[in-house]
Amino acid sequence: MASAAAATGLFVLLGILLPAAAAAVPDVALHRHRLGASLHLAASSSPNASDSPTTFFEVDRPIRPPRGSVGPCSTLLLSSSFGATYGRPPVTAAYAPPVCLRGGSLALAVLEWSADCRGRQFDRIFGVWLSGAELLRSCTAEPRPNGILWSVERDVTRYATLLSQPGEIAVYLGNLVDKTYTGVYNVNLTLHLYFHAAPPPQPQHLQKADLIVPISRSLPLNDGQWFAIQNATDVQSKKLAIPSKTYRAVLEVFVSFHSNDEFWYTNPPNDYIQANNLSGVPGNGAFREVLVRVDGDVVGAVWPFTVIYTGGVNPLLWRPITGIGSFNLPTYDIDITPFLGKLLDSKEHDFGFSVTNALDVWYVDANLHLWLDPKSAKTTGSLISYDTSSMDLNVNSEFSGLDGKFLTSANRQISATGWVKSSYGEVTTTFYQRFGYENSNVYRKNGTVQIVNQTIDAKSGVFAKDASAVLLSEEVHEVFPLYVYTGTSDQVGDEYTLVSVVKLGINDKKISGGKLGFSYSSLRNAQSGRGSMRVKKNLVVGGLGQTHQMYKYVGTDGCYFRDVTSKNYTILFDHSGDSCSKGSYSGTKFSSTKLKDQSARRKLLVNKLHRTEKI
Ligand SMILES: *[C@@H]1O[C@H](CO)[C@@H](O)[C@H](O)[C@H]1NC(C)=O
Ligand SMILES: *[C@@H]1O[C@H](CO)[C@@H](O)[C@H](O)[C@H]1NC(C)=O
Ligand SMILES: *[C@@H]1O[C@H](CO)[C@@H](O)[C@H](O)[C@H]1NC(C)=O
Ligand SMILES: *[C@@H]1O[C@H](CO)[C@@H](O)[C@H](O)[C@H]1NC(C)=O
Ligand SMILES: *[C@@H]1O[C@H](CO)[C@@H](O)[C@H](O)[C@H]1NC(C)=O
Ligand SMILES: *[C@@H]1O[C@H](CO)[C@@H](O)[C@H](O)[C@H]1NC(C)=O
Ligand SMILES: *[C@@H]1O[C@H](CO)[C@@H](O)[C@H](O)[C@H]1NC(C)=O
Repeated sequence: MASAAAATGLFVLLGILLPAAAAAVPDVALHRHRLGASLHLAASSSPNASDSPTTFFEVDRPIRPPRGSVGPCSTLLLSSSFGATYGRPPVTAAYAPPVCLRGGSLALAVLEWSADCRGRQFDRIFGVWLSGAELLRSCTAEPRPNGILWSVERDVTRYATLLSQPGEIAVYLGNLVDKTYTGVYNVNLTLHLYFHAAPPPQPQHLQKADLIVPISRSLPLNDGQWFAIQNATDVQSKKLAIPSKTYRAVLEVFVSFHSNDEFWYTNPPNDYIQANNLSGVPGNGAFREVLVRVDGDVVGAVWPFTVIYTGGVNPLLWRPITGIGSFNLPTYDIDITPFLGKLLDSKEHDFGFSVTNALDVWYVDANLHLWLDPKSAKTTGSLISYDTSSMDLNVNSEFSGLDGKFLTSANRQISATGWVKSSYGEVTTTFYQRFGYENSNVYRKNGTVQIVNQTIDAKSGVFAKDASAVLLSEEVHEVFPLYVYTGTSDQVGDEYTLVSVVKLGINDKKISGGKLGFSYSSLRNAQSGRGSMRVKKNLVVGGLGQTHQMYKYVGTDGCYFRDVTSKNYTILFDHSGDSCSKGSYSGTKFSSTKLKDQSARRKLLVNKLHRTEKI
């Protein structure tokens, strides 16, 4: 449940993912409405149960097996139904590595979640774990009387080491079924494996980790294996020892936000809430960051992408095109190799997570990917430089009654350099992150209109070299623009109209070089939706939603674009292709000449990273 002020006509975005929240019907004295909701449409506008089911989808590029690979070899991992599962243990199944994996050289592993549901239900968050390591964080689609279908595929090749050992699959999807919320989610979880026909030419040692250590809660549990972070001072952590022959370590962090922080980027400061007596409205302002600590030291941060779940803002926006990242939540990599020096003592160390300004609740966990030296029993290392000093957060508040303007901006830099000596030589690794954040939150018309415009800009890089060569240089630049307009009008008693406009996107550029070769990719993925709905009490009695999405990917590994529009469950336009020729992705600032100029790019990158190394 989430966001915004509440008063007559003022809106509160009520999140939906947690049954506990769903049960807490808001204070009727304030005419709040649910901005995260399941649809409760009047029967007249509902499809008939005999109509064919609707297929929901998230726009993404297809996962393609490498050229010349063979497969798939498919294995059903788990098949289950999720009805009254809230507060119960996850559904588990023993995992045995598929027979085809023995002796095969894995080229690609894909985890497929396919599900159906019928009736009425909220959107629910769920997670899939293998032996405690999270493989997928996702949100369900909201069903209709005629039923819905959807599937999610995630590339899980990087977990090859886990897939090769016996273990346990766990799925937690907390759902509640009663007279009103009738939807039961039926799920099949399948693993698809592809193999190299001939052994791969590339050295494998930097690609897939040799060991993956989960930083999550252990079973048995009556919940997901994620940590639940409930407030700004809550630190959730796990102590663990890593093998003393580790030479590289990367933390992959999973994050999702719910209930009072589902729409954290729309939360006003507490002084506005207090001045207007808006008790029960989620506050703490609009800035959040997830901090990752090792033995208390901040080793990295996540300024998360603003995933909007399938019931968010106006559920009709996400039917059948779902919000970016909602079916396959992004994960965030933090390279902690520079810190290995102090972790190689075979002793337990504390890996912790916190969320600045958090309100109840954030689900956070991580997988620690470790690369082990096959030729020596002990590696050594030391931190050379480390800087997390620079963090700025500014809030500029101006309000009078329910109208106001809040400008929040923040910047952070983290960088660390360290060396590790293994049988591969003495390798010096630098990891850095640079974040920028701006959020403007405006209330107008006596608080009945809220306009949020936010941009997160996140750069990170890894640079590893030995005495003679650059082994790896990788730079990622991500920009997450977000605009949310919500306005209530035509209030008559407990009925009103809510108009909303949502624009969100991911612009992502990756460039990497070194021993593994050069690669480059650019993604521009943008959604623009507008809708209105008539709300009576907590029921959406009518409405309309339209969403346009433009997805353009250009990379050394291929191209993909899709231009698609949906309106009220119907696809109006859908054009896609995977040609890299010019014209098929007009508008992308990219030309093949740029790609050819690899050596210049590589030099540029090396210079940049050298500069950051000196910080
Ligand atoms: C603004 O909203 C408040 C709280 O609902 C209400 O008391 C007040 O009368 C409204 N003011 C105007 C000018 O409509
Ligand atoms: C559903 O069926 C009823 C009668 O069985 C019919 O009147 C109605 O138009 C149908 N609705 C839709 C959306 O097809
Ligand atoms: C799960 O697999 C079974 C057996 O193949 C199939 O009958 C069922 O439709 C599948 N369900 C989903 C949701 O994919
Ligand atoms: C924050 O959450 C923790 C963990 O649930 C709890 O122990 C603590 O009392 C909370 N602190 C505040 C200030 O609410
Ligand atoms: C908020 O509540 C206090 C105490 O009940 C009251 O004095 C004050 O006038 C209220 N303020 C507003 C803006 O309603
Ligand atoms: C959001 O703010 C940025 C920066 O001020 C501006 O360029 C952009 O046009 C705004 N977006 C919308 C939809 O108003
Ligand atoms: C869109 O769908 C909703 C819900 O089914 C319905 O109430 C509304 O009349 C539809 N609007 C249009 C323009 O088709």
